[in-house]
Amino acid sequence: MSTQVRTERIGDVLAIFIDNPPVNAGSLAVRQGVLEAIETLSSVPSLVAGVLIGAGNTFIAGSDLREFGQPLERPELPAVIAAIETCEKPVVAALHGAALGGGFELALGCDARVGSQNLVVGLPEVTLGMIPGAGGTQRLPRLIGIPAAIEWVCSGKRVPASGALKVGVLDAIADGDLLECAVRFAANMGGKRRLRDMPVTEADTAEIAAAEAAALRQGKGRPQVAAAIEAVKFSATLPVDDALTKERAVFTELRMSNDAFALRHLFFSEREALKHPELRGVDPAEISLVAVIGAGTMGSGIAIAALDGGFRVVLVERDAQALNRGTERIKGHYEAQVSKGKLAKAEADKRTAALESSLEWAVLGQADLVIEAVFEDLAVKQEVFTQVDHFAKPGAILASNTSYLDVDAIAASTSRPADVIGLHFFSPANVMKLVEVVRGRSSSKRAIATGVAVAKRLRKMPVLTGNAFGFIGNRIYAAYRYQCELMLEDGAYPNQIDSALEKFGFAMGPFGVADMSGLDIAWRMRQARAHLRDPEARYVSIPDRLCDMGRLGRKSGAGYYAYETGGRKSVDQVVHQLIDEARSQKGLAAQTLKDEDIVERVLLSMVNEAAHLLSEGVTTRASDVDVVLANGYGFPRWQGGPVFWARRVGLDALNEKMSRLKQVVGPAFKAADLSALLAD
Ligand code: NAI
Repeated sequence: MSTQVRTERIGDVLAIFIDNPPVNAGSLAVRQGVLEAIETLSSVPSLVAGVLIGAGNTFIAGSDLREFGQPLERPELPAVIAAIETCEKPVVAALHGAALGGGFELALGCDARVGSQNLVVGLPEVTLGMIPGAGGTQRLPRLIGIPAAIEWVCSGKRVPASGALKVGVLDAIADGDLLECAVRFAANMGGKRRLRDMPVTEADTAEIAAAEAAALRQGKGRPQVAAAIEAVKFSATLPVDDALTKERAVFTELRMSNDAFALRHLFFSEREALKHPELRGVDPAEISLVAVIGAGTMGSGIAIAALDGGFRVVLVERDAQALNRGTERIKGHYEAQVSKGKLAKAEADKRTAALESSLEWAVLGQADLVIEAVFEDLAVKQEVFTQVDHFAKPGAILASNTSYLDVDAIAASTSRPADVIGLHFFSPANVMKLVEVVRGRSSSKRAIATGVAVAKRLRKMPVLTGNAFGFIGNRIYAAYRYQCELMLEDGAYPNQIDSALEKFGFAMGPFGVADMSGLDIAWRMRQARAHLRDPEARYVSIPDRLCDMGRLGRKSGAGYYAYETGGRKSVDQVVHQLIDEARSQKGLAAQTLKDEDIVERVLLSMVNEAAHLLSEGVTTRASDVDVVLANGYGFPRWQGGPVFWARRVGLDALNEKMSRLKQVVGPAFKAADLSALLAD
């Protein structure tokens, strides 16, 4: 008997327990065990039905993803499901916790499904670069119709028990003990009810087309999305066995695709990023009241994130008008959530009621966590932290949302640097997943653990970083942007670079982004750091010239592009001329840069910077770099991240490419040792 499946006879029903802690992931032993149990059910005449149930907290929460990068061992899941379908006695899936991916497909292979209140079901395969491969695309449309199945399969959404019952995916919700209910249900079924024998619900072609268009749009046109749509649709046209074979063939091909490897890499990297062995056993501070200082773009976004996370929040400002604007922005956000039907009015009211605002800094005395989000200016932040130090209670955690500044210099303006950390949120702070938790020289483990715990409570992705200019993300972004500016001098125009990177998968290229955030921020920073510039480095003066001309981006109607009043952007010959002039002043000849050259130079510059960050100890885990870029900088998830890319290229080829880049960039290019970054 399998070590991960056990059976127990309850009356005339065979209860089959899947027991592969912690999440009952589908594994070879699970598949073998279920298969053996079904054989028992078939062969023992006195048994009338079976119940498949998860031991512990959940049904099968998904397949073991590590298996997908390798040849699969038999029995594969379709064979297990086929055995359930062939068995003459009904099998009921008793579902609690999560029934996802292969787990949900197994449940769809049963004759009925009984769920508990806490259940979620879903097919996340497409979000992992594949399609369901064990009949999910064929059995689900027989229950919910093609348009809804397209939505479920392509979005990978998790549907709660009530929703699953409503559309017929569940036959019942257990009103007491799940196993008892399922056993009763199974004993009374009286016969088989195989989904494969049911016809696919007829659907309107317009409705199918709409579901298809929405899925392609949301799925950024990735091949797995198109393949999933096609598979769901052929459930209505192909004989079921042919359709199942075809689905499996597509799954088998896609699970080895670049997208699938990249998405699995991010899945594992994100789980890894949440592990902090150095913080094991450290208790985070108890947080109930969060004070946010500065009610601007970031402060109000952070306040919303904290309210959404269930904290009480006090917003503090020095300027009454700014405080009022910030408070109104937060209230407006919740009103919009209610009017769009995204949040119940009562919940929105509860969250706004948990918000206070104040111009009196004494309120900081009650806060357990203070997050500062004032102007990006060291002197201003130090002045604010001096005040915070004066008012905050002992033991409160003090955090700065600085983008680049030295957290140690900020901490030094307090009498308690051990309590100070960086908490670098991204804009819009209530939406973006990433939070860089910055470890200062003196930050205590308790303070760092609190930063991590708070970010998790806000359902964000905390990544630990050392205290260095720009931390992980902005350091890499600066290298990326610099490389793109060099390419302007080398012969590419902004729209060509933007378009190459947008084709690669970024939602917006670097020059579009620069225009949107305003060119003056980087301009001020270049001026402030001019004395630190490497005199040997190629300095691209194009952005300075644009700023001198008052072209500060969208807000001034022009930047790298020209903007119409409605916001539509267009290529501007003035900018092209300016670039041509800058190039000829340096005596550079315009080269032809192909899209793939542009993308490669960008990736190489990111990889080189990532290797520096690793060797400097700013990041301790190479894969964290990919987590940061995918969650905070719009790096396309299906490309995995620069570290993923570098590992696929391999060390020798990468070193060769890097030395070619060094020739282009010039003597100031500091080539990093890439070996540690590539070690898995
Ligand atoms: P903002 O200009 O929108 O807001 C700053 C707010 O701070 C203003 O409302 C201002 O009245 C207030 N303020 C200034 N000095 C103050 C003081 N002494 N006491 C109390 N309040 C004061 O700026 P934004 O964009 O919200 O940036 C804030 C911080 O967040 C900066 O450190 C920035 O680098 C960082 N950040 C910004 C991101 C962005 O995309 N805007 C992204 C990530 C971090």
